[in-house]
Amino acid sequence: MRVKNLKLNNYRNYSELRVDFSDGLNIIKGANAQGKTNLIEAIYMCSIGKSLRASKEKQTIKWDMERAYISLDVEKKYGKSNIEIIISKNAKKTVRINKIPIKKIGELMGELNAVFFSPDELKLIKESPEDRRRFMDISLSQMSKNYFYLLGKYERVLANRNKLLKEDLSREKLLSTLSIWDEQLATIGSKIILNRIQFLQNLAPYALLSHKYLTSDSEELKLDYTGIIGSTEEEIKQKFLQALNKNLEKDIKLCFTSVGPHRDDIKVSVNGIDVRTFGSQGQQRTCALSLKLAELEIIEKQTGEKPILLLDDVLSELDNSRKKRLLNFCKKTQTFLTCTEFDGLADKVIVVSGGEIKA
Ligand SMILES: Nc1ncnc2c1ncn2[C@@H]1O[C@H](COP(=O)(O)OP(=O)(O)OP(=O)(O)O)[C@@H](O)[C@H]1O
Ligand SMILES: [Mg+2]
Repeated sequence: MRVKNLKLNNYRNYSELRVDFSDGLNIIKGANAQGKTNLIEAIYMCSIGKSLRASKEKQTIKWDMERAYISLDVEKKYGKSNIEIIISKNAKKTVRINKIPIKKIGELMGELNAVFFSPDELKLIKESPEDRRRFMDISLSQMSKNYFYLLGKYERVLANRNKLLKEDLSREKLLSTLSIWDEQLATIGSKIILNRIQFLQNLAPYALLSHKYLTSDSEELKLDYTGIIGSTEEEIKQKFLQALNKNLEKDIKLCFTSVGPHRDDIKVSVNGIDVRTFGSQGQQRTCALSLKLAELEIIEKQTGEKPILLLDDVLSELDNSRKKRLLNFCKKTQTFLTCTEFDGLADKVIVVSGGEIKA
């Protein structure tokens, strides 16, 4: 996939922007606070339908303006498409594909597959399991709309189960109603878990390779799914039901469901050592990057299309050897890379200053 161009109106610090991109390496260069991250944030928004940075999407509307508009053209192996997003102060967000408004955000999944990496992505290794689950969920959703819908269904059943746990019911009534939710939770949850386990199995060899490549063969990266595991949906479902049963008293006390895919995690180790606990900052950053580069490869393997790569401010954080190797990797796919300085070879250099393009 390739993004051919981007138009913005009143998005963040851009009043109006029209820009064409190269199919290779696009460098977005400029001093601090000029709009580099804003530009790739807008592209990523067209991929996952929301902003990774803004908790409230309306924050992306240019100050004192009524609405923000994003439009971009994507070229794929078989055809082109146009994606538009309109964020209004006083109305719901509109997403259009080829001018036709979509009803559910799930319809956008797969239209523009993108892998995004910023210094913030360090949290993928360092922070809570939630960040690692989000990584799997966003990736899997890009490859399958079905998975995206499964997640939504799971969340609704989980919310119902948790609500029930808070209710003041007789024990008999509570147990009989719980068993209905448990069955549904385990049926949907086991599908989610199996998808994630298979995703990690597919990802692991690529992550190992890209990590070896970035670290000049010195580090061996390993990924393990932690939580309820199994090799078939039925096996996972049975284990899940047993775990729910085992944790029943605890769940009733806490009014919360303490097991399931919403609690699972990925264990990341390098040369046999848990990176989350013992890795250096640079090592953790490189692991996160290796996961993202591997994600790129398996999205391509699954969908037959190379996703685009969005790299925000990564160069300043890596040593020279890793930097060189990363840039070499970028040759494989259309890349958007923001930086303050760049002296390498690029297919297009876009200089951003105060929400405008200079050259
Ligand atoms: N809704 C908004 N309306 C107008 N300006 C905004 C809005 N949201 C953010 N900005 C401004 O956009 C400017 C550029 O932000 P951006 O994060 O893109 O900078 P950058 O070029 O990536 O800088 P850095 O090199 O520091 O990462 C910031 O100064 C910010 O104040
Ligand atoms: Mg930035």
